[in-house]
Amino acid sequence: MIHCQIEDGILKILLNRPEKKNAFTNAMYRELTQILSKGDQNSEVKVILISGAGNAFSAGNDIADFMKSPITHEDAPPINLLKALAQLTKPLIAAVDGVAVGIGATLLFHCDLVYAQKDARFIFPFVSLGLVPEGAASLLLPRLVGHQRASEILLFGEPISADDAQTLGFVNKVISESSALPYAEQRAKKLTTLSSGSVIRTKFLLKDGALKNAVLNQIEIEGKLFIDRLHGPAAKEALTSFLEKRAPNFEGLD
Ligand code: COA
Repeated sequence: MIHCQIEDGILKILLNRPEKKNAFTNAMYRELTQILSKGDQNSEVKVILISGAGNAFSAGNDIADFMKSPITHEDAPPINLLKALAQLTKPLIAAVDGVAVGIGATLLFHCDLVYAQKDARFIFPFVSLGLVPEGAASLLLPRLVGHQRASEILLFGEPISADDAQTLGFVNKVISESSALPYAEQRAKKLTTLSSGSVIRTKFLLKDGALKNAVLNQIEIEGKLFIDRLHGPAAKEALTSFLEKRAPNFEGLD
C-alpha cells in the first residue's frame, strides 16, 4: 500500500490506499518507517518526496484498525514512524492534494517543505475523537503559530484551507493546478542540484540539537496520553460513531 522508487536522487513515496483516503494501517506505518530509514541511509537518495494517491494525502490512522488493534505501548508503529520522521537527516518534501487528517496532517510538521493543492484541507481532529494530539503537534504548532491559534486548531479540529495553512506557516506554496505533485517534484529536483553536504547540514542546523530532543520527548509524552485516551470511553464512542456514520455523543463520558 506504499509505493516507492528512487529517481534521479529523489526517493518518491506514494501512500497508495485511495479507496480509504490513504488512511494508515499498522502495516503501512511499519512499511513507511522502514522506507524512510533506509532512504535516509542510502547515499543514492538526496531528497525524499511524499504524496498520496487519488485525491487525498492521508485520512490519518485507519479508524477500524484503531478499534481492532489499538496501540498499547510506546514503541507502537505510529509512534515509531513519528520518531523516524523527527530524526530524518535528508530533506523531506510533501505534496498535499485533498485531505490531510490526524497523523496525515501532523506528519507535515516534520517535513521541510510542504506544497498543497488549492482544495487541500488540513484537519487535526484529536479532541473531537476523544484523543489528544500526537506527532509533537502540541509543541511544534504553538511554536509556529502561537498558543491561542494552536489552541483554536487543536481544540476544535476544524478543517483548515490550503490558503489558511500557508498564512499560518506550515504550507510553503498553494498550487492552483489539479495536483501539487509536479511542483513538489520540481522543487525536489532543484534540491538535488545543490550541494547535498550543504543541504543536509542546513537541515541539521534548522532542526537538530535542542529542538530534536524536545520533539522526541514531546512525542513520548503525547504517546502516553494518547494511548490512555484511546482506551477510554470518549474515544470508543467517537470511533464507533465514525464507523456507524453518526455524530458522537460525549455526554457523561470524560
Ligand atoms: N479510517 C478508516 N476509513 C476511513 C478513514 C479512516 N481514517 N477515513 C476515510 N475512511 C474511509 C471512509 O469510511 C470511506 O469508506 P467507505 O467508502 O467504505 O464508506 C472512504 O474512506 C472514503 O471516505 P469518505 O468519508 O467517504 O470521504 P470524504 O471525502 O467524504 O471525507 C474525510 C474524507 C477524511 C474527511 C473523512 O473520511 C473523515 O473524516 N475520516 C476520518 C478521519 C479521521 O478522523 N482520522 C483519524 C485521525 S486520528
